[in-house]
Amino acid sequence: MSEIKPAHLSVLVDAVVKYALPENGKIFVDGTFGLGGHTRAVLAAYPAVERVIGIDRDAEILDYSCKILDDPRIKRYQANASDLPEILSNAGISGVDGILLDLGVSSYQLDNPARGFSFSKPGPLDMRMNLDQPDTAEDLVNELDRQELVRIFREYGEEKFSGRIADAIIQSRADSRITTTDRLAAIIRNAVPAYNRHQSQIHPATRVFQALRIAVNKELEEIESFLAIALKCLNPGGHLSIISFHSLEDRLVKSFMQKYHKGCDCPPQFPVCICGKKPQLEILTRKAIFAEEEEISQNPRSRSARLRSARKSIVEVNGR
Ligand SMILES: C[S@@+](CC[C@H](N)C(=O)[O-])C[C@H]1O[C@@H](n2cnc3c(N)ncnc32)[C@H](O)[C@@H]1O
Repeated sequence: MSEIKPAHLSVLVDAVVKYALPENGKIFVDGTFGLGGHTRAVLAAYPAVERVIGIDRDAEILDYSCKILDDPRIKRYQANASDLPEILSNAGISGVDGILLDLGVSSYQLDNPARGFSFSKPGPLDMRMNLDQPDTAEDLVNELDRQELVRIFREYGEEKFSGRIADAIIQSRADSRITTTDRLAAIIRNAVPAYNRHQSQIHPATRVFQALRIAVNKELEEIESFLAIALKCLNPGGHLSIISFHSLEDRLVKSFMQKYHKGCDCPPQFPVCICGKKPQLEILTRKAIFAEEEEISQNPRSRSARLRSARKSIVEVNGR
């Protein structure tokens, strides 16, 4: 094992280990592999695991992870988590026993100014997790119209000064294209009223940077695509665990789990079920699991993390 220290502290590790797999699970999918911190903990806790499918959109982080975690059971794939069906089919695997997603970005990506995720260091306005994808944050900031910028800042960043910030961006880009993180951060800072700037505990650019990252990487669309295929990839009794950092992500995960836990979707006034849909998921975490204060003090990023986990029902119901 190499001496290189991981540049990312994995969140909610104990809870991930508790829910990742059924006791004798053999095939584990880490759909957001990053530097492999969660996989390392899962491998240590589940000796029966024979194979790990490690997926990440980011080729650079996958390469780097090989220096940190080298285990013959792990096979890495640069792909979206929602590409899992094709990955499994090419590997000749019909179903897996556990799938984990730990959404968002890794500190390894955030801390590299060349990737453009952070406003705290000057860098190109990039923010792509997958460097092969065409559109960067620079493209969105310079090419979207006001309405779309406001929508992104409001919806994905819950930014209350979305309109003022969009106006300031449009004014500034009329002079010259906005290409760097520090210039965008300064535009946002100056657009926020001084009173709010001083009252706020976070940098005024925090929400807009988060919103742009979600838009650039189409993160919500990707979760929806993943949820649409997740059940098909799990063996009966297999576990699905998802850590999200944003209320919109968590809402998608929660309603997905509730829908497949409930099964029947007949209107409540129907005296008997006519849809025939049976529950396909058993929810393992009645409420989302959050980090304890001790973890938050060591890793502030864990404050907004929440984990939900569910088990695929053992009895398959008419292929539904
Ligand atoms: C929070 S980090 C994961 C950290 C990892 N669990 C660990 O303990 O080291 C999220 C990683 O998932 C990747 N990622 C995010 N969304 C993805 C998706 N939909 N498909 C594949 N990879 C994704 C990012 O590139 C990033 O490397």
